[in-house]
Amino acid sequence: MATNITWHEGSVSLEERQGLLKQKGFTIWFTGLSASGKSTLATALEQTLLHSGINAYRLDGDNIRFGLNKNLGFGPDDRTENIRRISEVAKLFADSTVIAITAFISPYKADRDSARELHQAANIPFIEVFADAPLDVVEERDPKGLYRKAKAGEIKEFTGISAPYEAPEQAEIHIKTHEVSVELGVQKILDYLVKTKLVD
Ligand code: PPS
Repeated sequence: MATNITWHEGSVSLEERQGLLKQKGFTIWFTGLSASGKSTLATALEQTLLHSGINAYRLDGDNIRFGLNKNLGFGPDDRTENIRRISEVAKLFADSTVIAITAFISPYKADRDSARELHQAANIPFIEVFADAPLDVVEERDPKGLYRKAKAGEIKEFTGISAPYEAPEQAEIHIKTHEVSVELGVQKILDYLVKTKLVD
């Protein structure tokens, strides 16, 4: 715990920065089981936004665990710390006017709610997107063979098998990834962003 620290205010306010850079930052927070389609949707959304001239940056669970969060495992406390750090990083990106797109299982409702509160306190919009696919579907997809290993007991605390996933009840956007294409899923998110005037 750090002590004797002081917050230093910048000389450019959030509103002034947004005006100067002609973009408002926010966070799009994907949540869902492994292989539910979070990363696929996040990647396609990032590509679409960038090709429209909108600065977006994706933070992906697997990738972040290679670097920033390489010291964290998959026990409950480490997952909470993982999400806490990413919430802070996403908020910083959004504060700088970039659209932060996060793709983490983020299995605990309390952690996602903390991420939301952190953003709300900074006046930064937070949009939760539930990449929803039933367990039997993601087990069947199993692109990395992790469900097979988890069921064989080779991976401990695997979400959906031996660790919990608390599905969101009121996510801003709910995408049933076994029912819609990636293109339609991305379109649903874009429609929401236009409707809420977060993008033009
Ligand atoms: S969490 O729960 O939000 O902290 O997880 P996250 O940082 O998104 O990391 C999920 C990816 O890690 C791989 N993996 C596991 N997932 C769940 N449980 C266990 N035990 C586990 N071990 C490794 C897996 O590839 C996840 O990637 P996705 O993209 O979700 O399939």
